[in-house]
Amino acid sequence: MAKAVLAFSGGLDTSVVVKYLQSEHNLDVVTVTVDVGQCDDYDDINAKSKSLGAVSHHNIDARLEFVEEYIHPAIQANALYQDRYCLATALARPLIARKVIEVANLEGAQVLAHGCSGKGNDQVRFDLAFMSGSNLPILAPIRDKNLDREAEIAYAEERGVHIENVAKKFSIDQNLWGRAIEGGVLEDAYIEPPDDAFIWTRRRHLPTEPIYTTISFDGGIPVAVDDTQMKPVELIDHLNRVAGDAGVGIVDHIEDRTVGLKSREVYETPAATCIIEAHMDLEKMTHTIHQNRLKRMMDDEWARLTYLGLWDEPLRRDIDAFIQRSQHVVTGTVRLRMQGGAVRVVGRKSEYSLYDAASATYGAGSTFDQRRAAGFVELWGAQSAEANKLQRYMK
Ligand code: ARG
Repeated sequence: MAKAVLAFSGGLDTSVVVKYLQSEHNLDVVTVTVDVGQCDDYDDINAKSKSLGAVSHHNIDARLEFVEEYIHPAIQANALYQDRYCLATALARPLIARKVIEVANLEGAQVLAHGCSGKGNDQVRFDLAFMSGSNLPILAPIRDKNLDREAEIAYAEERGVHIENVAKKFSIDQNLWGRAIEGGVLEDAYIEPPDDAFIWTRRRHLPTEPIYTTISFDGGIPVAVDDTQMKPVELIDHLNRVAGDAGVGIVDHIEDRTVGLKSREVYETPAATCIIEAHMDLEKMTHTIHQNRLKRMMDDEWARLTYLGLWDEPLRRDIDAFIQRSQHVVTGTVRLRMQGGAVRVVGRKSEYSLYDAASATYGAGSTFDQRRAAGFVELWGAQSAEANKLQRYMK
């Protein structure tokens, strides 16, 4: 029998897909679960795959690769889609797709499959990553059959497939970089997310005293927290706990999806929120006014391409090269203060700092001779002033 390799989370969508591929397409199903820090019980997922009748299951720990190859470039790009979303899901998809292709090659499979719907961004990300890395045909039964969540739940229940209660309430995707919560009551964009939507971020009994923490960067990559060097995965894990405990990292916004729909998206991203805030601040200190201006545009385009599923687009790599070139000076330490669920930068220092307190001071003894400014201002504004005089009353 021909084999399909399926990106498998053990959740509702992908469990239904296993059954569909077997019964409607007559395929043997190989499931692949990629550990990108979602903290699921991988033995449970393995057991679930077996119980669904998959012929084999692969569990791949890709956490370090996820951080080094995807999250670190995102930090260096200050990547926030529409100024809010840290791209947790968007970054993981191309990596998961790559692992699925590796397993397909290993297993000599004929089909690649995913459990995404036709309404979301993830179908685009999976399809495009599959297309870039393989010539195998792609099956996406949830999309192909136009299934909605009620139909999926009914289909699963008919076949005795166990569904978690939380899966009935929300659609969740989580990894080391963030947790996305969609669907259910959240679809009313005016309703505040209920408490049970969140698990990483404290909302009640927040500490009354502010919590201070420092993040140190080396070449734009976070390497230490509170002066303790940490390994890449551990550092993000640690900040998710510290900042989450301080109630930091909830995002609630309206997002423009790739397929043209708007969606109401809720996220918990404690570590990402703190790290990007700190990284942006350190760049302002170490980059020139010109670098700061252009990099914002490049960052925005990097986030846009990644969100839209164009991770493998050459332009994304070109922009990456631009960003990489700018990062060697983004070395230093940023101090953050967390209180009442908000985070704020309250200090920064860098050996590459372009901030010169001695010349910027308004106090006595400044090294900046104000008199030199007058000539600059005169030349700087001369053309504009002239235009106003000559053209003001003309149509
Ligand atoms: N809107 C986000 C994105 O497109 C998150 C999607 C999360 N998926 C989910 N099934 N909840 O990247």
